[in-house]
Amino acid sequence: MNVMTGSEASLMWQRPDGTPPSVPRPWDRGPGPVRFDEQTESWVVNGYEAAREILLGDGWSSDPSAADASRRALRAAGIEDAPLAQTMLTLDAPDHGRVRGSLRDVFTPHCVAAMGEGVEAIAAGVISGVAAGEPFDLMSLIAEPLPIAVIAEWMALEPDVAQLLWDETSELVGALEGTVLPTEALPSISGLTALFAEFLSAASERRRHPEDDLLSLLATEPELELDEVVSNAILLAVAGHETTAKLLGTSMIRLCSGEPGERLIDTLGDVGADGVIDELLRLDGTAQVVVRAATEQHEIAGRTIEAGARVIVAIAAANRDPAVFEAPHEFRPDRERDRPHLALGYGRHRCLGAALSRLELRIALRQIKARQPRLAGPVTWHPSGILRGPTRAPMIFTDGGDR
Ligand code: HEM
Repeated sequence: MNVMTGSEASLMWQRPDGTPPSVPRPWDRGPGPVRFDEQTESWVVNGYEAAREILLGDGWSSDPSAADASRRALRAAGIEDAPLAQTMLTLDAPDHGRVRGSLRDVFTPHCVAAMGEGVEAIAAGVISGVAAGEPFDLMSLIAEPLPIAVIAEWMALEPDVAQLLWDETSELVGALEGTVLPTEALPSISGLTALFAEFLSAASERRRHPEDDLLSLLATEPELELDEVVSNAILLAVAGHETTAKLLGTSMIRLCSGEPGERLIDTLGDVGADGVIDELLRLDGTAQVVVRAATEQHEIAGRTIEAGARVIVAIAAANRDPAVFEAPHEFRPDRERDRPHLALGYGRHRCLGAALSRLELRIALRQIKARQPRLAGPVTWHPSGILRGPTRAPMIFTDGGDR
């Protein structure tokens, strides 16, 4: 029974398989665009306008240690810096611009579009390897390997480094979540140490003998110190891997839920169309929150946010703000796109890999659709309020005639 009022309910992430979220999330606990949450000692921003104002505005830091609550959490976890500190994700101006600027030219939609054929081939290799008529786990056989293979090829990583990315997936997810929102329960991130050593050796080698790949491009950037090359290369590998994998998983669950013939995958002409991808991102985007620290006092939606306060910008809630998105829970690929969703962030830290993630998703969804997929059992969801998506999603391909 739904006992919530309209405005409260509208903020909830309704999982596409109908199961409730496994962890309570502060942005589901009450209405109002901006309010203080005692449990997380943070301001929680649910409203679209307030979220945009913060992500675009000055007087905010992306450095977790700039917020009193995050600093306390890091200290309680016995570490000084958030995992993946010194990456562009957690840097502020002017260092943020310097690091991001070194990659800006290669992550443009134009350059990424040129990777289409390569991504098609990688996706075909992964997806065609799955036999028809036999249940399989979408996450481990397709959704996880695909983005790892794409970034590994672009960075020309040795197979054992790509394997390490794969082996350490759950720790890397923890590291990414710890960067976004450090808590007292920060998980062990020893997997990062091994990855750091591998990337350090590869980056030093490419600095001396550059080739035509993304890691060489970073490694030969005169503006970057070697440790910055390494941490940002790891950020690209980690940020681009789990986010895309989880969105592909959630998207397939949404597209394949329902009765045969009435499922979205049966009724949508092109599952890779821009409007479809945007609705999947708006409703199910992997990152539920981004976090900022106030470096000065702000008045947002009538509330005073003091310098040093931590602000959880719940982009998942903002993307369902009924003041901006009519019937926010409905999947409407033909929605006006004049008010962009915030699933890939907004402002100066907007996702650098936005074009790549869209390309991977578009190609994977089209190829998977051609295999006539069906859900084949209950989904297991990642138990987190920071990144969302499945860890296991049983499916079956029926293009071999086995229906
Ligand atoms: C569906 C997949 C993806 C989602 C939902 C996603 C989401 C996001 C979000 C919300 C941010 C903003 C963080 C903030 O404002 O604090 C972000 C930043 C970032 N993303 Fe993504 N991302 C995805 C895929 C990728 C891919 C494929 C790559 C690269 C290969 C990537 C690399 C980055 C980087 C480097 C940043 C930091 C940008 C900066 O701080 O300037 N992401 N992403």
